[in-house]
Amino acid sequence: MDLKLTNKVAIVLAASKGLGKAIATALSAEGAKVIIGSRDEGELKKVASEIQQLTGNEVWALPIDVADAKQVESFIEEVAQRYGKIDILLNNAGGPPFNKFEHFDDAEWQKAFDLNLLSFARTSRLVLPHMKKAGGGRIINIISGSVKAVLGNSVLSTSMRMGVVGMAKLMADEFGPYNITVNNVAPGMILTDRLKHTLPKDVDPETALKEKAKNIPLGRIGKPEELAALVTFLASEQAAYISGTTIQVDGGASRSIL
Ligand SMILES: NC(=O)c1ccc[n+]([C@@H]2O[C@H](COP(=O)([O-])OP(=O)(O)OC[C@H]3O[C@@H](n4cnc5c(N)ncnc54)[C@H](OP(=O)(O)O)[C@@H]3O)[C@@H](O)[C@H]2O)c1
Repeated sequence: MDLKLTNKVAIVLAASKGLGKAIATALSAEGAKVIIGSRDEGELKKVASEIQQLTGNEVWALPIDVADAKQVESFIEEVAQRYGKIDILLNNAGGPPFNKFEHFDDAEWQKAFDLNLLSFARTSRLVLPHMKKAGGGRIINIISGSVKAVLGNSVLSTSMRMGVVGMAKLMADEFGPYNITVNNVAPGMILTDRLKHTLPKDVDPETALKEKAKNIPLGRIGKPEELAALVTFLASEQAAYISGTTIQVDGGASRSIL
């Protein structure tokens, strides 16, 4: 299937590793011009040239802290100036810490809000005029399966992701007339550094991963490429009539019917 992503300009945030990196690689492999952003410039440049070598398509490393308003503004401006358009925005960020509700103070709530909700709102607002001008676009948010079923200790993540779900629904409603779709992708357990850091230290990693996979119908942890495949489809022309949805990539782990 030709996804018609050749020469589309795609911003992929939080892309120096994990889900973001896999998504940037998949979009680049489909011919998109990908701009990757995260904080560690050295790592980002390394990843950009790695992807470029693999796919043969241009990948631009542009450092950004997505929680910093000024950096976000100049990032979007620089991309628009260099490419003349923005077709795809993949919103992503590092995840907030896990702990019980009673352990988080105002400062931690504020940090999670800035990183995992406000940053998505800000980038979306700033790309909107460019997508309107281009006659359409795709906004895709990486959130978490915790919006579908309770995940212990994830109160910061779940609260912010629920905000993204509501926001995306309203954005889909308002942006539809501009031919811009807005969707959320909700990972279950996908093997990245973030997941590795949650493994118990006193058990060997392979055993710990097997234990975690016990309640997943497909019997294993997911691969970043498996989530990237869905994002790539949602970014494509073929997904033109899908908007306002939240789709899980979790091996069937969520038992929720709705
Ligand atoms: N993997 C899973 O199973 C899973 C499940 C549910 C939800 N999620 C969510 O999906 C998102 C991505 O997870 P992941 O597993 O890919 O994590 P990861 O492997 O830890 O990668 C996180 C990426 O985010 C970047 N980043 C962190 N803070 C940033 C900031 N302020 N500005 C710009 N970039 C930033 C990091 O680069 P720098 O540090 O250099 O900035 C890195 O590239 C997270 O929000 C996570 O909570 C993941």
